[in-house]
Amino acid sequence: MSESGLPQQERRQVRLRVNNVLQEAQVETRCLLSDFLRHTLHLTGTHVGCEHGVCGACTIIFNGAPVRSCLMFAVQANGGEILTVEGLAGADGALHPLQQAFHNYHGLQCGFCTPGFLMAIYAFLQDNPDPDLSDETIREAISGNLCRCTGYQGIVEAVRHMLRETHTVTQGRAGGERE
Ligand code: FES
Ligand code: FES
Repeated sequence: MSESGLPQQERRQVRLRVNNVLQEAQVETRCLLSDFLRHTLHLTGTHVGCEHGVCGACTIIFNGAPVRSCLMFAVQANGGEILTVEGLAGADGALHPLQQAFHNYHGLQCGFCTPGFLMAIYAFLQDNPDPDLSDETIREAISGNLCRCTGYQGIVEAVRHMLRETHTVTQGRAGGERE
């Protein structure tokens, strides 16, 4: 029992790699992965909206797949590999093309949902490196994330422009411009 009379929470050691940095900490077994990232590791880019798996704001990449970090306990991530929105930018601080596209094409307003969208689209592009640019495909890719501000049009445009630019660069390189 704790001093408050409540049962003492069991604690476990977790060891995992986050944005390519090895992290180790003692956590209560009830601690959500989203809270662990935000409060223990101070990676507050991962946002928490609904806390029950609906809004997608807390999306991260866990062992290569997008997951809602509010639906996992930190202890379940032990031994895993995590990418959060903080890991998207380059070591020199240069924005990831997705982040730049959101900036250029007004993919955000208040920005609360943005980290979740970025991580969801990042995962979609890992699985579909050369998707078509239709509204339908892009809206399907972001259908698991909710935004209260944008009406989604800016987000769809940002993704479409990023894909178009990426495609152009890839085509250019394939045509002999490779460094
Ligand atoms: S905070 Fe996790 S899905 Fe909404
Ligand atoms: S930009 Fe405000 S919730 Fe999406």
